[in-house]
Amino acid sequence: MFDLPAQRAHLSEKYDLTPSPELAASMSDIYDRMSRVVSPVDWAIYAPYVKAINDLKVQRNAVILGHNYMTPEIYHGISDFGGDSLQLAIKATEVEADVIVQCGVHFMAETSKILSPDKTVLMPDMEAGCSLAESITAEGIEEMRRRYPGAPVVSYVNTTAEVKAASDICCTSSNAAQIVAAQDSHTVIMTPDQYLAQNVARDVPQKNVVWWEGSCIVHEQYSPQDLRDFREWNPGTRLIAHPECPPDVVAEADFSGSTSGIIKYVTDEKPEKALLITECSMASNIADSLPEVEFVGPCNMCPYMKKITLEKVLFALDTMTGQVEVDAEVADKARLSVQRMIDLSRQLGI
Ligand code: 13P
Ligand code: SF4
Repeated sequence: MFDLPAQRAHLSEKYDLTPSPELAASMSDIYDRMSRVVSPVDWAIYAPYVKAINDLKVQRNAVILGHNYMTPEIYHGISDFGGDSLQLAIKATEVEADVIVQCGVHFMAETSKILSPDKTVLMPDMEAGCSLAESITAEGIEEMRRRYPGAPVVSYVNTTAEVKAASDICCTSSNAAQIVAAQDSHTVIMTPDQYLAQNVARDVPQKNVVWWEGSCIVHEQYSPQDLRDFREWNPGTRLIAHPECPPDVVAEADFSGSTSGIIKYVTDEKPEKALLITECSMASNIADSLPEVEFVGPCNMCPYMKKITLEKVLFALDTMTGQVEVDAEVADKARLSVQRMIDLSRQLGI
C-alpha cells in the first residue's frame, strides 16, 4: 500500500512542486497538446511535476511508455511514446535506455521486463492491475488444454507472465483475429477475454474459437441498448467500440478496433461527433489534435489505469522504487509467446 503522506513529504523536500502559472506558461508547447481538456488552473498544478519528471528522465536515462488510457497530463506531458498494448510491447524491445517507466498497468510493465530483462522497469503503482489478468492463472490454461487437447492457446497480453509462459502465443486487440486465423488448427483456445474471443470468432468463422470466461470491467458495462438510446438521443454520432465490449455492443457500433485502431479511425474519418465506447482518457488524449471532432456521451473509467499519477511517477523515478521482476525461467517461456506474436504481426504487416 502507498504511504502517500510519506511520499509527499519526501518529494516536497527535494522538489518545488508549488503550482506555478509562470512555469505553466513557459511550458505552453506541452500544454497545447491538452488545452481542450485540461484547464489552465490544473496545468499550473501539473507543470512542476511534469518538469521535475522530464528533468529526472534525462538524469536516469529513462523512457516513459504511456498507454492510450493514461490521463492527458501523463500521456502528453511526460510520455516519450504513447500507444496501444502492441505498440508499447514493440517499443519496449526498441528503446535504448537504462530505465523504462511503464505508465499503464502491471501486465504491461511485466511485458516490458520480459522483453528487456536487462533494463530496470518501474511500475509507479504495483496495485495497477487488470480484471482480465486477474481472471486466469497458469492452471486455467492447463484446464483449457485438457478440455481441448491439441488446440493452441492464444492468450491476450492482458495476462500475467506465468499465463504467457503457459500459452503458445500472445495477441492484443489489434492483431487477435489475424493471430487466430494463422493458427495451424481448427480449434483455437483464446484466453482470458470471452468478449474479445467472441468478436474474433465472428471475424474468423473458419475457426472454432473457444474461450475462457474473463472480462474487462470497463468494457463489459456497456449494453447494446445504451448505444441504441444514444443514437436516438444524439443522431449523427459515430459510435466506436473497443473489441473488449460484448459482441452485441460491437454489432451496434460503426467501428470496432484497438485503442490505436480507434485513434486511426477517428483521425482518418474526422466525424462531426464521436462517442468512444471505451476508457474515458481515450477521447481526452486525442481531443486537441482533432479540433473538428466533438467527443460526446458517457465513458467508463478504468480504476487500475487511473492509479498512475504524476506524483507516483516522480516518486518511482526519484527513489527507483517499484522495480518489476519476473522469474528468469518464467520470463524465458513468456518471451517466446510474446515474441511469436510480435514476429507474426510483423510478418502479417500489422
Ligand atoms: P489496447 O490498447 O491494446 O487496445 O488494449 C486496451 C486495454 O484494455 C489495455 O488495458
Ligand atoms: Fe484491464 Fe479493462 Fe482496465 Fe484495460 S481497461 S487495464 S482490460 S480492466
